[in-house]
Amino acid sequence: MAEKFILGVESSCDDTAAAVVAEDGRILSSVVASQNALHAPYGGVYPDVASRAHIMAIVPTIRAALSQAGVTKEQLAAIAVTRGPGLIGSLLVGLNAAAGLGAAWEMKVIGVNHLRGHLRSADLDEARIKPPAIVLLVSGGHSILARYDAADRITLLGSTKDDSAGEAYDKVARTLGLGYPGGPAIDRMALEGRPRIRFPRPLLNEGLDFSFSGLKTAVARHVSLHPEENKADIAASFVAACIDVLTGKCRAALHAHRPECLVVVGGVAASKQLRAALAVLCDEAGVTLSLPPLMWSTDNAAMIALAAWDYVRLGIYPKLQPEVRLPITEF
Ligand code: KG4
Ligand code: ZN
Repeated sequence: MAEKFILGVESSCDDTAAAVVAEDGRILSSVVASQNALHAPYGGVYPDVASRAHIMAIVPTIRAALSQAGVTKEQLAAIAVTRGPGLIGSLLVGLNAAAGLGAAWEMKVIGVNHLRGHLRSADLDEARIKPPAIVLLVSGGHSILARYDAADRITLLGSTKDDSAGEAYDKVARTLGLGYPGGPAIDRMALEGRPRIRFPRPLLNEGLDFSFSGLKTAVARHVSLHPEENKADIAASFVAACIDVLTGKCRAALHAHRPECLVVVGGVAASKQLRAALAVLCDEAGVTLSLPPLMWSTDNAAMIALAAWDYVRLGIYPKLQPEVRLPITEF
């Protein structure tokens, strides 16, 4: 039988994306239409602007993914689309487009959990997840530690009590006037500074939950009290605090669970400094570090299509409805 592929569609936040992916994680195409330039003036994602931009971009993006992959609808096993978590208006555009295509093509449409997409991003191009695994998911919307034994055996170990790691990066970038998205700018600037300011490490050594709002506020207070302070030193000190917290939580999870590997996914996993710190940690712990290539760390539709293959194998087809909140343990 000829090989089949899944068409993935992603529109949960501010990127419109479509991709065609094989069951083994081979990527035939992946197209991402970024809205960064639209949201930059606001210093964050403006939901109404995001929904409107998705409407304009969704059909051309899907078309581009199909034509770049060179596949016809006869070669598709299903259409996968992010059903949550995310912004309601953004999610609806992708869901509506996928539902329409599915009806026209008489094809199954699978609503996929975006967080499971991030998790499976580590298996794009080549399989990197060796269960049992500890998963650190650090993105603009989430900071999650989970244990992964199989697609239907995921255990939540910890999550953020307030802001996500990515939100903290973005807000500190705004405080320092570095524009949006702030993560890459902070990460770059931090390399030029010295981490000599001692910012708090919230909840370090206290379980596996995270909290980043106090750290973000401490940076804002420091900047207002010391407006002449070297920005690179502030960025370096903030990144040092974040990395201490993230590696500290991972260390605790690795000691408690003795996994085969540590999987690190989500936009903040693109941080060079975080990657370096986790490499040292995994080396010491004798655990494999499984990282997706940088381009798969941030939002894309290839990860949604690959995650959808788990749904096909397990025969799980969630209701095609948007979910603003959706835990990683759910499908
Ligand atoms: O996974 P993602 O693309 O979107 C969500 O699902 O939220 O993550 C976006 C987040 C943003 O907060 C962005 O600032 C952060 O990832 N980010 C980074 C880097 N690149 C993106 N944070 C730190 N260092 C980076 N190099
Ligand atoms: Zn994401």
